[in-house]
Amino acid sequence: MSDVLASLLLRHRAVVCVGTGGVGKTTTAAALGLAAASLGRRTMVLTIDPARQLARALGLETLTRAGEPVDTKGLTAPGMLHAGMLDLKASWDAFITRHAPTTAVRDAMLANPFYQKVSTSFAGTTEFMAIEELCRLDESRAYDLIIIDTPPSGRAIDFLRAPERLEKLLAPEVARWILGRTGGGALQAVTGGARFLIKQLERAMGTRTMSEASGFFTALDAMFGDLSGRATRGRALLTGKETAFLLVVAPTAPELAGAVELTAGLKEMAAPLRGVIANRVHPLPGPRTLETDVLAAAEGDASVTAWLQQTWSAARALADVERERLDAFAKSLPPDVAWVEVPELEHDAHALEDLARLAGLLCSLPARSASAAGR
Ligand SMILES: Nc1ncnc2c1ncn2[C@@H]1O[C@H](COP(=O)(O)OP(=O)(O)OP(=O)(O)O)[C@@H](O)[C@H]1O
Ligand SMILES: [Mg+2]
Repeated sequence: MSDVLASLLLRHRAVVCVGTGGVGKTTTAAALGLAAASLGRRTMVLTIDPARQLARALGLETLTRAGEPVDTKGLTAPGMLHAGMLDLKASWDAFITRHAPTTAVRDAMLANPFYQKVSTSFAGTTEFMAIEELCRLDESRAYDLIIIDTPPSGRAIDFLRAPERLEKLLAPEVARWILGRTGGGALQAVTGGARFLIKQLERAMGTRTMSEASGFFTALDAMFGDLSGRATRGRALLTGKETAFLLVVAPTAPELAGAVELTAGLKEMAAPLRGVIANRVHPLPGPRTLETDVLAAAEGDASVTAWLQQTWSAARALADVERERLDAFAKSLPPDVAWVEVPELEHDAHALEDLARLAGLLCSLPARSASAAGR
């Protein structure tokens, strides 16, 4: 338990939950949202593709990117919690609508079949739009705190590099080259992002002609300054003092190896890592459990006793190896990075009560229950 995360939620304007795939980023972001609201903050949690039950617990089934109030059943008084889910298509449309220099450019872009088919599938789009939405929410000043979940990613550092990559992929030079392309043969001369993009275009369009794509790039060219400007603004927000990165890790060897890589990437990008949440940790089974409760439960039956002892030893071995791995990883971190451990719950964290329990574990909050809150 820790109140270091509580004070972190109180001191920052944006919290970014990063981590390798499946470690609990979305769940942690939602639980931190409840915690922040309990601490009195007007909080927005922007999740990315939450599990269906978690989405339902947050009332996300009907939600869009705009964010809606979560009925926290009295769990978060006195603050408020809104939750939203990243919707790539809607985010792109809003981006185009906001940044198109004229209504004609806007309408041409929105109606362009190439845009409709592939705009959401460019590499880095999810990450770019998550950062863009963070900027948009920050600018709206509607919230004290914005907690942002990040996309599942094999190499989580891709999140920070995505705006830059998308910017390069859609750069005016690439667009100009595509617009000026006169036919076969030239592809051999192209390398890197442009080559990938052209192949993607050809696959998406099911044709080797790219007239619709040229319409897209013509319109995009007119607003490239904004795309580039937003990427710069996103980077500034992500590396600023008001933002805290929280790294969620699982106590397994591959996830911790990914976390080491991500930590190095955060440092390289000057992103402020403020805390690590070791999630789904198996607690050490105490000797008392073995000697009294467990053996008593066996009622003297030798085979049951042997089985219980084996189970206990396996649990102990797992807890020991996790402890060793986590300690080694913790040692590699700068001393000012907060460290919080969250145990593996008995079941997946999908209901609001589970999130509230995790919120309590993350931030040492006084226990509240929906029934205690008079519901
Ligand atoms: N402490 C915990 N105890 C038990 N189950 C947990 C815990 N934390 C997360 N989970 C469960 O683990 C699963 C993965 O969690 P989650 O979706 O939050 O991970 P993620 O990092 O967002 O995954 P992805 O990278 O795919 O987006 C979910 O079923 C969630 O309920
Ligand atoms: Mg997730």
